[in-house]
Amino acid sequence: KDKYAVFGNPIKHSKSPIIHAAFAAQCAQAMQYRAVRVDLGGFDRAANKFFADGGKGLNITLPFKEDAFRFAGRLSERASRARAVNTLNLAADGVIEGDNTDGVGLVRDMVANLGWVVRGLRVLIIGAGGAVRGVLEPLLRERPEGILIVNRTASRAEQLAAEFTDLGAISGGGYELIEECQFDLVINASSAGLEGETPEMPSSILTERSCCYDMLYAAEPTPFMRWAAHHAAWAVTDGVGMLVEQAAQSFYIWRGLRPETQSVIASIRGGTQ
Ligand code: ATR
Repeated sequence: KDKYAVFGNPIKHSKSPIIHAAFAAQCAQAMQYRAVRVDLGGFDRAANKFFADGGKGLNITLPFKEDAFRFAGRLSERASRARAVNTLNLAADGVIEGDNTDGVGLVRDMVANLGWVVRGLRVLIIGAGGAVRGVLEPLLRERPEGILIVNRTASRAEQLAAEFTDLGAISGGGYELIEECQFDLVINASSAGLEGETPEMPSSILTERSCCYDMLYAAEPTPFMRWAAHHAAWAVTDGVGMLVEQAAQSFYIWRGLRPETQSVIASIRGGTQ
């Protein structure tokens, strides 16, 4: 069996092994996929050992995506833009290639699964961390009217936006920038929801046509999802679809096959309830 794994810390609650086992079964691929908790500061050592032992590919999750970016022998264009790698693949020529499938996963979930058309939309992104950096290029390629990034630390949002201005209308700053504005698509990428806090936002930013996407997911609706539903947003979702779609894109990089994702999304959602 070909060996694959996800490296992270913590890793216990990772859904990636279940998702890839489902893909492998569906596509009749002889592969094993394990979740590995890597010590902080130990990424290179663990990754070198994994490939030296015959490993074929890795997924990388927090906090190692930047380590994986440096580790890769060759980078896809979107990975070099994102300066973060979530997929490593042993290529035919022996080079370990780094890619980032998070943004493709987000866009595919929105467009193919949810039927949201991003083109022409006014997009608000809350948060300016690594998760946002990973998705900006694929989002901008959908040609929204514009993207505004707001963040608790305004300078981080400004700097991040500045790196992508050649791809479309994008700006960033502090939360005060959203006052008096309305958005068609609001994406939460701040980890604030993890602690059960709702990022402070005026409900006036939503219209009855607004779509709200939380890149997080949990057994219960997240604080951001509850906030959006309470203010009657048109559609509200968590990040389970993105999780499965980024995995499907990694699977495609490794195996050259596109698994069917709907049933896997449904079963992950079922399992978290
Ligand atoms: P990730 O890779 O998930 O993006 P990260 O780089 O640590 O992780 O980014 C976390 C994001 O959540 C940041 O935008 C952070 O805001 P700051 O840049 O100001 O730190 C945001 N965040 C985390 N806790 C928050 C809180 N309690 N309130 C508001 N924003 C928060």
